[in-house]
Amino acid sequence: MPEQSSSAARTAPGDVRTVACIGAGVIGGGWVAHFLARGYDVVAWDPAPDAEERLRALVDAAWPALQRLGLAEGASADRLRVAATLAEAVAGADFVQESAPERLDLKRDLLAEIDEAAPAGVVVGSSTSGYSMTEMQVKAARPERLVVGHPFNPPYLVPLVEVVGGDSTEDWAVSWAAEFYRVAGKEVIEMDRELPGFIGNRIQEAAWREALHMVANGEATVEQIDRSMTAGMGLRWAFFGPCLTFHLAGGEGGMAHMLDHFGPSLKSPWTRLEAPELTRELRDAMVAGTDEVVAGRSTAELIEQRDRRMIAVMRALAEVEAEEAAQAAREGGRG
Ligand SMILES: NC(=O)c1ccc[n+]([C@@H]2O[C@H](COP(=O)([O-])OP(=O)(O)OC[C@H]3O[C@@H](n4cnc5c(N)ncnc54)[C@H](O)[C@@H]3O)[C@@H](O)[C@H]2O)c1
Repeated sequence: MPEQSSSAARTAPGDVRTVACIGAGVIGGGWVAHFLARGYDVVAWDPAPDAEERLRALVDAAWPALQRLGLAEGASADRLRVAATLAEAVAGADFVQESAPERLDLKRDLLAEIDEAAPAGVVVGSSTSGYSMTEMQVKAARPERLVVGHPFNPPYLVPLVEVVGGDSTEDWAVSWAAEFYRVAGKEVIEMDRELPGFIGNRIQEAAWREALHMVANGEATVEQIDRSMTAGMGLRWAFFGPCLTFHLAGGEGGMAHMLDHFGPSLKSPWTRLEAPELTRELRDAMVAGTDEVVAGRSTAELIEQRDRRMIAVMRALAEVEAEEAAQAAREGGRG
C-alpha cells in the first residue's frame, strides 16, 4: 500500500521543525511570518533580486502584531534563512509551502521542481487562490504528496486554510497537511473534493461580483457598498456565518421557518447570481446542516452569544479607532 510505504520515513505533523517557503511576496512572506511566530525554522527562496530585503521588511512589520498575539516558545525572526537556490531551500525541509505568482504554467513547472528537490515523503502545499491541484500536479514525478493549502491574507493573522488534494494526491498527504496546519496554529477546512475558488473565495467572489455590477450600473457607490458590509453583515459574519445568521432570522422556527417564509424571495431580483431551486432536499440539507452548527443551543442562547460577540467586535473596533485618533492628534500637535 502506498500509504504504508510512504509513511515509513515521514516526520509526524507535530514533529516538524523546518518549513520551506517558496515564493516570498505578500502571501509567501505572510506564511514566513506565521511559521516564525509559531516557533519554526524557516528557509525561504524567491528569485526576485530584492526578495530578501522585501521579505525581511514584511516580517519586521508583522512582528509587533505577532508579539501582541503571543509568540510560541523560542520563536524568533532570526530563525529565518534565505536560501540561494530552490534546491537548497527545500533540502532540509519537513514541509514546503509554495506561494509563487498565480500562473498555471509557472505553478506546474515549479511544483515539479520542488517535488524533485524535496526529500521523499515531505508534503508540499500550494497557496493558489483558484487552480485545482489536479491541473497543477501534472508535471510532478511524485504528485501524490502535493496538496492545496489555501490561506487568506494576511496568513499570519487570518486563521483559515482550505486543504484539498488533486486526482493524483493520496489521502495521507491531505490528512497530513490538515494536521500540520492545525498544529501550526491554523483553522483548517479539509475539503472532500476540488471546487474552483474553494469555499471562502466563492462566497467572497459572489459579493464582489455583485458589488461590481452595482457600481457599473450606478446603483451604489463604492463607499455605500463597503459601509453596508462594515456597519451591517460584516459584524455578524466575524462570528456567525451566513447560515447561522439566517437561522436566527427565522426566530424560534430557525432555518426551516426562514426557508419556508423567505423561500419565494429567492426568485426576487436581489442579486445577479441565480438562486438554486429550493427543493425539499436543499431545504432539508440546510436545516440539518444548521442543526449541526447550532449543536443544541436554544434560540435565546444563540441570541445572547450573538449580541455579546457583536458588542465585543464593535468595542474592539472603537478602541482601535480611538487609539488611531489619539495618535493622529499627537502627530498633528507635533507638526
Ligand atoms: N494576495 C492574496 O490575497 C492571496 C490570497 C490567497 C492566496 N494567494 C495566492 O498566493 C500566491 C502568491 O500570491 P501573492 O499575492 O503573494 O503574489 P506576489 O506577487 O506578492 O508574490 C509572488 C512572489 O513569487 C515570486 N516568484 C516569481 N516567480 C517565481 C518562481 N518561479 N518561483 C518562486 N517564486 C517566484 C515573486 O518574486 C514574488 O515575490 C498566488 O498563488 C496567489 O493566488 C494570494
